Amino acid sequence: MRIGILGSGSGSNLQAIIDAIEAGTLDATLALVLSDVPDAFILERARRHGIPTGVIDCHGFKTKFPLESQFQTAADLKSADCDLICLAGFMRLVKDPLLKAFPQSILNIHPSLLPAFPGIAAWRQALDAGVSETGCTVHHVDAGMDTGPILLQAKVPILADDTAESLHARIQVEEHRLYPEAIRLLLKQRVH
Ligand code: GAR
Repeated sequence: MRIGILGSGSGSNLQAIIDAIEAGTLDATLALVLSDVPDAFILERARRHGIPTGVIDCHGFKTKFPLESQFQTAADLKSADCDLICLAGFMRLVKDPLLKAFPQSILNIHPSLLPAFPGIAAWRQALDAGVSETGCTVHHVDAGMDTGPILLQAKVPILADDTAESLHARIQVEEHRLYPEAIRLLLKQRVH
């Protein structure tokens, strides 16, 4: 399985996937890491491990993922022979050009127990809502925001003295376990 990663931030989920591959617990190759943020640390992490990288040109749009950019991204991922795309902290909405290029083959990780708290800073949304637990979800990507069939979830308790930062850090510990596990599960499903 050749994986392409799209991310906008620090890339700790990419790191968890790299670590699983290097530890021999995930049978996959990281073929390409792309970011819409040219100086995002996710690109640096990829370079440190010899993984090819690229920048997605969104033509100056702050949050939109223009269709031309999605066609270009799909072409780049195809050229790298990717057969699975993992969104790892990628903050733009994927639409038809990518969805049609990689049917049933795009995963996302989100820091809540979806369908609760889609969108930005889901850990803060959970804290503000006063719920007693939240978590993280790996799901197949469709055209919605953090929607699509769920593959795996993990629960995380919310503690009385949690801040947004402490809660996100606790969720990320689970994310780093869950994403490699979800990819392993997908691999198994494809084999059978
Ligand atoms: C992760 O917590 C991920 O779940 C979240 O962004 C963070 C990226 O961290 N994604 C979303 O909120 C998507 N809606 P990372 O760059 O360290 O992997």
